[in-house]
Amino acid sequence: MWLVCDHDPVRAERLRKYLEKQGVQVKIATKEEEIPNTWAEGKLALFLGGWNPATVQHVKNTLGLSTLYCTLDTLAPEQFEGLRQQGYDDVVPYPPAVEYARRWEREVNTENPTTLASLVSQRRKTTYTAYVESKPFQPPAPTPRRATVICVTGVKGGVGKTTMAVLLANAMVARGKRIVVAELDPYGNLANLFRVERTVTADRFETLPDVLTDPELEQNMLRTPAGWWLIPKGDRPLGLSKDGVARLIHLVGLYADALILDTHAGHLMSTVVAMREADRVLGVTTADRTTWTDLRAFLHMSERPVYLVLNRVRERPRKAAAISAFLQKEIGFRVAAIVHEDDTLYQRVQQGLTPLGSRKTNARIHQLIQTLSISTKEAKSHEA
Ligand SMILES: Nc1ncnc2c1ncn2[C@@H]1O[C@H](COP(=O)(O)OP(=O)(O)OP(=O)(O)O)[C@@H](O)[C@H]1O
Ligand SMILES: [Mg+2]
Repeated sequence: MWLVCDHDPVRAERLRKYLEKQGVQVKIATKEEEIPNTWAEGKLALFLGGWNPATVQHVKNTLGLSTLYCTLDTLAPEQFEGLRQQGYDDVVPYPPAVEYARRWEREVNTENPTTLASLVSQRRKTTYTAYVESKPFQPPAPTPRRATVICVTGVKGGVGKTTMAVLLANAMVARGKRIVVAELDPYGNLANLFRVERTVTADRFETLPDVLTDPELEQNMLRTPAGWWLIPKGDRPLGLSKDGVARLIHLVGLYADALILDTHAGHLMSTVVAMREADRVLGVTTADRTTWTDLRAFLHMSERPVYLVLNRVRERPRKAAAISAFLQKEIGFRVAAIVHEDDTLYQRVQQGLTPLGSRKTNARIHQLIQTLSISTKEAKSHEA
């Protein structure tokens, strides 16, 4: 529950309605006396107008809440600093963007099982940012997403996540689709692999406007020789922020038929957000059991449909099928494709050529696309 401290009762009521619509429960205080002395359900406090610094300190220290100052004006940096000194943790524009403010929420119920959603929201903000910079991402209006967003992920490195992303993109382009691959892995090598200069990178999506025309969006991507668009990795060592990933998915989601997210292995924040926002999650692993460790818990955090790909399989069909059945049972998700070790593909990559699957591999990838039922989204195309 959020505490809204506003001396103006009319505005406070309006803010209550606004916040409740977004699923936030609200308690209003229009006078000092209305602020509780203890408050177990409290998650966050929003202040509007002039409040006594002692009150702000009380909310902060006694109630243990983060204190956000909500302003209708644009603040100069000195004013911002002044508010910080009065005890405010951060400044947000009015009306507050719930998505951003949530980052300051105190965790009240820690007994909930870990889900991707909780991981994202539990990342409580501890440092402030001038709100000019922190302008959070909010889609301008609930626009229907056109793209099917596929998050290719896994807990281990080198299992073939990037290869899978590329093979999927190749296969979908061949079906005449507008495909975008976004490299969310800060240690990825897609630009290298396709010999394109990283003249634009994923970092741009941190600051791009909420609405772009198709040509404007295309200026922020690179066309690969394979015919699909690439958004190469950025320069931040920990990858894109939550907002950056959400903005990228939103913008590309309006443009493409499919957006494939190539992620870094494991719980990097950008991977977590990608898994949360995607329509399908593809967990890649090899037949080597050491690549399965923690895969179950990792993939089960997702609330999206999850499929497995068993990659680089060297075993004969019967053995491969047995491994696949075992994997399926262990991890609890369907194995949507068994992709064999593809020597041609491997040799090409070693020679510095772009990954191209053999006929057999590509046949598996086409089957995989069917299983993910991505084609059913075709109705969502340009005319929609
Ligand atoms: N089915 C396959 N047959 C042969 N080689 C493969 C296959 N899948 C992937 N590879 C090779 O395995 C290596 C690792 O693949 P890739 O880079 O796709 O893995 P990754 O999971 O994205 O790794 P990272 O975690 O480092 O991003 C590459 O050399 C790639 O060419
Ligand atoms: Mg990779």
